[in-house]
Amino acid sequence: MTLNNGVEIPQIQLGTWLINNDDVRKVVCQAIGVGYRSFDTAKDYGNEKGVGKGIWNSDIERSDIFLTTKLPTAVKDYEGTKEAIDDALDRFSLEYIDLLLIHSPQPWIEVNRTDDRHFEGNLENWRAMEEAVKAGKVRAIGVSNFLQEDVANIVDNGTIKPAVNQIEVHIDKVPMDLMNYCKSLGIQIEAYSPLAHGRLLKDPKINEYANKYNVSPAQLMLAFDLQLGCIVLPKSDNIAEMKEKLHIDFRINDEDMEKLIKLKERDQNVAV
Ligand SMILES: NC(=O)c1ccc[n+]([C@@H]2O[C@H](COP(=O)([O-])OP(=O)(O)OC[C@H]3O[C@@H](n4cnc5c(N)ncnc54)[C@H](OP(=O)(O)O)[C@@H]3O)[C@@H](O)[C@H]2O)c1
Repeated sequence: MTLNNGVEIPQIQLGTWLINNDDVRKVVCQAIGVGYRSFDTAKDYGNEKGVGKGIWNSDIERSDIFLTTKLPTAVKDYEGTKEAIDDALDRFSLEYIDLLLIHSPQPWIEVNRTDDRHFEGNLENWRAMEEAVKAGKVRAIGVSNFLQEDVANIVDNGTIKPAVNQIEVHIDKVPMDLMNYCKSLGIQIEAYSPLAHGRLLKDPKINEYANKYNVSPAQLMLAFDLQLGCIVLPKSDNIAEMKEKLHIDFRINDEDMEKLIKLKERDQNVAV
C-alpha cells in the first residue's frame, strides 16, 4: 500500500507484542525467512533491541524492511519525545524508523480512568515527530488508539497529517465510523489484534465460514480486515502459522462480508 506521504508499506506485517526481547531476534529472523518484511513493535513491548538484532542478523537490505515502533505512552512533552526517538534508534542500532506512532492519546495508567485526552501533550509529541521526519530519522508518522477527536486535534494543529491510525479491528470489533472518518482524511487504518488476540479462532461461526472458503479461521479473519482496506499486524512466533498468514489468496464474497460485519450483534440475539 502507499501512505499519504508516498511511502510504501506492506499490508501484512508481523506483530511482536508479548514476544520477549530474548526470543524476538529469532522470531524476526524466522519471519524474514518465510517472507515477512515488516514488523510492528513499541517501546512499551520491551523488545525493540531484539527486533533490531533480528533485522541486523538477516541478509536482507535495510531498505527492504519496514519497521514500525511507538513512543512510550507516558511521554507527552516535546523534549521527552525527542529523547525517546533517539533512544529508540539506539536500541534498534538503526539510522531510521519507517513508521513512528503515538501509541495512545493517554498514558496507559489513565486509559478508561480519566477524560483527559492530552490534546496539548499529543501536539508536543507530534511537533518532535515532525522534526524527526525532517531530520531523516523517521519516514512516516502516525497515531494509535486515537478516537476522532484525537485525530482531529493533530490534523487541525499539526503540519504533517498522520499517515496511519493503528486501532483494534477484527470480526468482533469494527469501528466503522472512525475508520470512515480516517479514510476521508487519507489516513490509513492499521488493524491490530486482527485475530482478536486468538480469542475467536475456535468460535464455531468463524470456523463455519472458514470451512466454506476452505481456509483456516486465522486466514478468514485476516482476509476480513484486508477486505476492509486495513493493514494487518497478526502476531505469531510459530513458523507454520506465520507462513499461513502470508497466503491470503481468496476473497470473502460481499454477502458474507456483510454477515461477518454484523456477527458481533449475534450476542444480543442468539447464542452460538
Ligand atoms: N497499538 C496498540 O495499542 C496495539 C495493541 C495490541 C496489539 N498491537 C499490535 O498488533 C499485534 C497483534 O495483536 P495481538 O498480539 O493482540 O493478537 P492477534 O494477532 O490478534 O492474535 C495473536 C494470538 O493468536 C494466536 N494465533 C495466531 N495465529 C494462530 C493460528 N493460526 N492458530 C492458532 N492461534 C494463533 C497467537 O498464538 P501464538 O502466540 O501461540 O502464536 C496469539 O496468542 C501485536 O503483536 C502488536 O504488534 C498493537
